[in-house]
Amino acid sequence: LLSSLALYAVGQGMSACAAESLREITLPAETAVLVSSPLPGYAIATQKCAICHSADYINLQPPHMSLAQWTAEVGKMQHSYAAPIDDAEVKLIAIYLASTYGDAATVAPVDTALLSSTTAASSEADVQTLLNHNACLSCHALNVKVVGPAYHDVATRYKDDPQAHSKVEAHIHDGGAGKWGAVPMPPFPGLSTQELQALADFVLRR
Ligand code: HEC
Ligand code: HEC
Repeated sequence: LLSSLALYAVGQGMSACAAESLREITLPAETAVLVSSPLPGYAIATQKCAICHSADYINLQPPHMSLAQWTAEVGKMQHSYAAPIDDAEVKLIAIYLASTYGDAATVAPVDTALLSSTTAASSEADVQTLLNHNACLSCHALNVKVVGPAYHDVATRYKDDPQAHSKVEAHIHDGGAGKWGAVPMPPFPGLSTQELQALADFVLRR
């Protein structure tokens, strides 16, 4: 039945119709977009990953890819396909992709485990929620440098500084680069004074 219907359609001047609809739908709008994020890698990926292909190449990757897997994937774009991104951008894009599409928990597994073992105190639990919601641990770990400095190193640097709390709160709020290296930290203007205090206090006690 289907094929006789199709034949019927052809008989009714299908080719003229097809030509007409082709003209109307010549360039379908690109509808696939990357999931938006405050992470700096999002802006870079939006600019640079769409140069050669649809965002669906990213959207259709398997879920739960780790930071290492996304770093390898973005590295492959850079090395095998000559995507115009430098090493710092590879890192930032991979962090964005791992924390947005992948398994953010695998980014800092040791420290996440450490944190959840201290949730007995409710203030620690609040800080953990803040750290999770703001993806702080995509870039920071307690004891090793990731993209940003280890929180323990921040605590050590400010150990004898009486203005440690206000300086660190301002840095979390405003973001910026130059204190620890060239890679910038994004600003977090949405955090309240209380939240900034809790985060700074958490970091400075590491
Ligand atoms: C210079 C061109 C180019 C740019 C820029 C580019 N890609 Fe690709 N990408 C490719 C090619 C070529 C393929 C393989 C296509 C195929 O196999 O059909 C691919 C495939 C992929 C795939 C599918 C899995 C795979 O490995 O084949 C993913 C995911 C992907 N790209 C992610 C990205 C991301 C993230 C960026 C931005 C950092 C990016 N691409 C930028 C050329 C590019
Ligand atoms: C995209 C990566 C990224 C994210 C997300 C991020 N940081 Fe950072 N952070 C950095 C980088 C990079 C630096 C170093 C900046 C510099 O050199 O000045 C930094 C520096 C810091 C410092 C040191 C400040 C100082 O005064 O020396 C603290 C504390 C900090 N971050 C806390 C946080 C907290 C809390 C969050 C979540 C609300 C967060 N970061 C989210 C990358 C990030």
